[in-house]
Amino acid sequence: KVSWKLEDHPKLPKGKTVAVVVLDGWGENKPDEYNCIHVAQTPTMDSLKQGAPEKWRLVKAHGPAVGLPTEDDMGNSEVGHNALGAGRIFAQGAKLVDQALASGKIYEGEGFKYISECFQNATLHLIGLLSDGGVHSRLDQLQLLLKGVSERGAKRIRVHILTDGRDVLDGSSVGFVETLENDLAKLREKGVDAKIASGGGRMYVTMDRYENDWDVVKRGWDAQVLGEAPYKFTNAVEAVKKLRENAMTNGDAVVIFNFRADRMVMLAKALEYPDFDKFDRVRFPKIRYAGMLQYDGELKLPSKYLVSPPEIDRTSGEYLVKNGIRTFACSETVKFGHVTFFWNGNRSGYFNSELEEYVEIPSDVGITFNVKPNMKALEIGEKARDAILSRKFDQVRVNIPNGDMVGHTGDIQATVVACKAADEAVKMILDAIEEVGGIYVVTADHGNAEDMVKRNKSGQPLKDKNGELQILTSHTCLPVPIAIGGPGLAPGVRFRKDVPTGGLANVAATVMNLHGFVAPSDYETTLIEVADN
Ligand code: 3PG
Ligand code: CO
Repeated sequence: KVSWKLEDHPKLPKGKTVAVVVLDGWGENKPDEYNCIHVAQTPTMDSLKQGAPEKWRLVKAHGPAVGLPTEDDMGNSEVGHNALGAGRIFAQGAKLVDQALASGKIYEGEGFKYISECFQNATLHLIGLLSDGGVHSRLDQLQLLLKGVSERGAKRIRVHILTDGRDVLDGSSVGFVETLENDLAKLREKGVDAKIASGGGRMYVTMDRYENDWDVVKRGWDAQVLGEAPYKFTNAVEAVKKLRENAMTNGDAVVIFNFRADRMVMLAKALEYPDFDKFDRVRFPKIRYAGMLQYDGELKLPSKYLVSPPEIDRTSGEYLVKNGIRTFACSETVKFGHVTFFWNGNRSGYFNSELEEYVEIPSDVGITFNVKPNMKALEIGEKARDAILSRKFDQVRVNIPNGDMVGHTGDIQATVVACKAADEAVKMILDAIEEVGGIYVVTADHGNAEDMVKRNKSGQPLKDKNGELQILTSHTCLPVPIAIGGPGLAPGVRFRKDVPTGGLANVAATVMNLHGFVAPSDYETTLIEVADN
C-alpha cells in the first residue's frame, strides 16, 4: 500500500505559490542564425540565464535520461512531461516495444491472441505513422511486426500509412514508403496478400490529439474503415473497386502500430466505443482492435493491446494533491494533455477535483501555426497570472507551446516570432509570482526551436542536392534550461553541483522541495540544496 504522506522538508517552508512553466520545444544551443531562440528577443529567458550556475542550469531531455532506447533518440513531449511529472525514469513505449519484439513476448500476450484469431479468415489492418522518428512509432518496428504476423498466419494484410514530415525531414516519406513497398512485395512472394491500402499526411489524417479537430480523425476513418478516399485515379471504376475492397469488414483485425498515446486516443474511441457521436461513422464494422500499447490508463483505452505500457504510478502531481497542494494546470488544446495527461502518467482526469483545476484554452483549428505564431501564449500567461493572483492555488503549472508547434512547421521567421511570444508569457507569470511573493521554476520538455537545420557531424548546416538548406522540423537531442527564483525562494537555495548529469526526471523532487516537502526516496534526486549562511 502506498503511503502518500510526504515528509516535511527540513529547511524549506510550505505555503509558497510555485509556478511551474514548461516551454515546449525550447532547448539550449550555440548562437547562430538557425537558433530561433537566440535570434528572437527573449529578455526574460535571457535574464534567467544570468542566474547561472546557482539559479539556472541545463538538464538532459533526450535518450535514456527520459526512458528512450539510445542517445540518438531525440526528446519529445510525451516522455519529457512523463519524466517531469513522475520524477523517475520509466522505460518508454519505444523501448518496451523494441524489447517485446526482440524477445517475441509481443506474440505471447492476450492482445495478440485476440487479434490473431482473425488471421485465418479475415484481413489484418495495420494503421500508424510511417517514419523512423521514434516519437510515435518506428518503421523498423513495423517491419518486424509484419514479419512476425505473417509467420504466425496472417494471410491478408492491409497497411494504412500516415506520412511524416514533423519528426523527420520533410519529403523523407517517399523513402519510407519505398522501403515498406519492398517489404510488402517480399511478403507477397511468400504468398501473403500484403498491400498498402490507404495513406495520408499525419497532421491531416487521423493523428489529431486532445479532441482539437475531429475532422482529422474522420478523414482517416473514411479512408481506413470505409474505404472511401479522395484519390485521383485514371480509371474511376477501378479506383472505387480497389478502395472498397480494402475497406474494413466484420471479422477483420486492426492493429495500431504507434506506441505513443496522445494522437491515437481519438481513433481508439472511434474504433472502440459503441456509442460515439463525434462524427458519423456511417458503418461500425465488428472488428477486433488492439493498440500497440494501451494509450489511456484511466479510460483503459484500448482495452486490448500488444505491449503493456510503462506503469507510471505515484506521480508528483498525485502526491502533491494528496498532501493538500491546490493545483492549477493550463495550456491550449494542442498541448493541454501534456501538462495534465502526460504529467500525471498518462491518466486523464483529476486526482481530487476539489483541489485541482485544469483549464484548456481552445487552440486555433485548421491552420499550421506558422500562420499564427503567437498562438495562445498571451491567454495562457493571463490565465496563469490570474490563478496566481487569486491565491487559490499552491502550484500553477503551464505549458507554453510556441517554440515547439511553430518549430515543427520549419518556418524560421515564424519560429522567431513564436519564441518572443513564449518569452512574453513567461514574463507575465514571473511578474505575478513577484507580486504574491512566490517561487518559479521555468524549464522545457525537449529542444526544437533552438535548431532549425539539419547539420553534419561538425555542426555545419546541410544542403540538399539543389543547394537548399535542409530544414529541421523535428525535435533535437539538446539539453534544456531550468531556472528557479522568485521572492519566495528561501535564502541559500541553489542548484547543487553534484548532479551534473541531471535530467527532466530530477525536476519533480525539486518542485516538491519548493512546496516544502521531501520527495519519495525512489524519486530521482533533487537538483537543489540549501546553503547555510
Ligand atoms: C507531435 O506529435 O506533434 C510530434 O510528433 C512531437 O511533438 P511533441 O512531442 O512536442 O508533442
Ligand atoms: Co513537438
